[in-house]
Amino acid sequence: MPVLTVALIDFDNGEVGPFLQQMGAAARAANPKKTLGYVSQPGSKYNYSNDEVRRALQHEDFWFAVVAQANATTAMNHAYDVGNSSYDPTGAVHVYYEEGRNALTIDEIGYPVLLDFLTDFVMSFTKQKQQSLAASNAGNAAALARQADNPIPVAYTLFNTAPDTPSTAEAATEIGTIYLIIISFLSILMFNSLNEAMMGKVPTVRYYVYRMTLFPVVYFFFSLLYLALSCAWKIRFDKFYGSSGYVIYWMLSWIAMLAFGLAVENVNNVLGPPFTPFFFVFWVISNVATGFFPIELLSNFYRWGLAWPLRHVLIGAKAILFGTKDLLGLNFGVLIAWVAVSLALQPFTIWMQMRRRRAAVEANRRQVLERVYGKTEEEAEKC
Ligand SMILES: *[C@@H]1O[C@H](CO)[C@@H](O)[C@H](O)[C@H]1NC(C)=O
Ligand SMILES: *[C@@H]1O[C@H](CO)[C@@H](O)[C@H](O)[C@H]1NC(C)=O
Ligand SMILES: *[C@@H]1O[C@H](CO)[C@@H](O)[C@H](O)[C@H]1NC(C)=O
Repeated sequence: MPVLTVALIDFDNGEVGPFLQQMGAAARAANPKKTLGYVSQPGSKYNYSNDEVRRALQHEDFWFAVVAQANATTAMNHAYDVGNSSYDPTGAVHVYYEEGRNALTIDEIGYPVLLDFLTDFVMSFTKQKQQSLAASNAGNAAALARQADNPIPVAYTLFNTAPDTPSTAEAATEIGTIYLIIISFLSILMFNSLNEAMMGKVPTVRYYVYRMTLFPVVYFFFSLLYLALSCAWKIRFDKFYGSSGYVIYWMLSWIAMLAFGLAVENVNNVLGPPFTPFFFVFWVISNVATGFFPIELLSNFYRWGLAWPLRHVLIGAKAILFGTKDLLGLNFGVLIAWVAVSLALQPFTIWMQMRRRRAAVEANRRQVLERVYGKTEEEAEKC
């Protein structure tokens, strides 16, 4: 829980900001392991600007920001001292968060707990404020009337700056990415019989070239279909990167399929059928375990997941779809590294596969020789 940081920022420098920060500090001191990571920060750090806070949020400096707005205390006290029938307490505190950064974590873990904290804040602040007003306003009918006009001194407004919408985008940023792994795996299995049947029937160099270009070409079109499927569900990729968002997402899916598929392909080449599905299960579980939730929320055991491919597909897709932090350079870098290593190993694993299936390769070679030189060989035998 403390990993989900909440910046408590004071633009107010009156009663509201410090009260909020003290509540955060008290909550953390009371139960450090089961409380969100409340951190008090001065408004000057953000130049007293909500835009600066949003920028820091987008930069993932924290998960949530609770900002006591400038002059919140002044506006509140003005309503009690002078009167303001249109005083709106919800303007006193702004809460910023990016649901799209990780909707699972925010919606299930962070948001409900933060709402409890905010409700608690409104209740406690109201209670102490009304008590101190009641004490000082005793006998002052006009002041008591103003107090009754504004029963709630401060409240808050929520701003979700990167909503997880449309809901169909959940497919492209969560569960749907598992299908990238499944489709790349199925292609390996489906092409396997064809590849094995062709061993020895095609000249060796040409066979290697065929094998090494096969999946890049196949996945190029599969990933285009994957993009088309998202488009059919009216998911827009042009909100933050213009129309190139479509191409970026297509390329991301393509490289991701290659990263997933070529690893399976190499295992299949070296070990063959009974081990390929076994590796696939490991591949799906290890990717899903480290991909869907932020690594920093998991046990340290999972830190190897920082280099695992699915995580980078998800982070990249969220940047394109929801406008969260742009780590596309890193995401493409990690995925391309997986592809590069797999491609470098592939000639070696194809060679191992041909050795493993030597008998079949030899039979295929003989068959071709017979077909091409069949007559001359028969004639030769007759002689
Ligand atoms: C802070 O805000 C002032 C006034 O808006 C501006 O002149 C100044 O450049 C800002 N400073 C930073 C560090 O953003
Ligand atoms: C806050 O109040 C002070 C003094 O009342 C005033 O000078 C300042 O302009 C106010 N700031 C904002 C942002 O309203
Ligand atoms: C009364 O409250 C509203 C909303 O909070 C605010 O916009 C307005 O400036 C306040 N009026 C005065 C005179 O303070």
